[in-house]
Amino acid sequence: MSFILAPSLLSANFLHLEKDIEMINASEADWLHLDVMDGVFVPNISIGFPLIKQVAKIASKPLDVHLMMVEPQKFISRFSDLGVQSLSVHYEACIHLHKTILQIKDAGMKAGVVLNPHTPVELLTDILEDVDIVLIMSVNPGFGGQKFIFHSYDKVRRLRAMIDQKDLNTQIEVDGGIDFENGKLMIETGVNILVAGNSIFNAPDPIEMIRRMKAEK
Ligand code: DX5
Ligand code: ZN
Repeated sequence: MSFILAPSLLSANFLHLEKDIEMINASEADWLHLDVMDGVFVPNISIGFPLIKQVAKIASKPLDVHLMMVEPQKFISRFSDLGVQSLSVHYEACIHLHKTILQIKDAGMKAGVVLNPHTPVELLTDILEDVDIVLIMSVNPGFGGQKFIFHSYDKVRRLRAMIDQKDLNTQIEVDGGIDFENGKLMIETGVNILVAGNSIFNAPDPIEMIRRMKAEK
């Protein structure tokens, strides 16, 4: 089964960001995952537009942006202007989710909706056919390097059944605590896109870890 591997830049060395992005460029990774946090939706603040602009200049992999912020609809065009490929917003942060999803697609990006660990996949019944990606958080958002939540397998299984039953092409992405072992199981459970931060950037040889993870299909 082929899948997309998206290393999360949050775990990179920010003093040597250019070097880490060139490493990803040279690797077998498919996308580059960027985490934007506002300190309100999640108890942490990460990167903003000045940095993303520089990253976009040198990254050769498509940018997969995960917005952990309130009112993400205010910033959609800012991300499309930077050439972002996919933009995902949290279900829990969007009052008018359907409208926001359409705005993301109208801006020329893939539209994703993200679910926190406590949010049931069944809440997506009436939006599933409009989204390109559903991102299942397998940790509580806000920090890299956290412990994987085992219940995420069950959510992926239920979501895969919903997608297949409706005969949709919606992709399932999983983010948080993903490594070589649970990543393989997630693919077998029906995931299409794996995000991995700590397990790649803190591996002794990140390029080799990416190669190993990609070979696990
Ligand atoms: C967490 C972020 C993740 C994070 C994943 O809120 O959404 O993308 O960087 O990092 P790991 O793989 O270390 O859990
Ligand atoms: Zn993320």
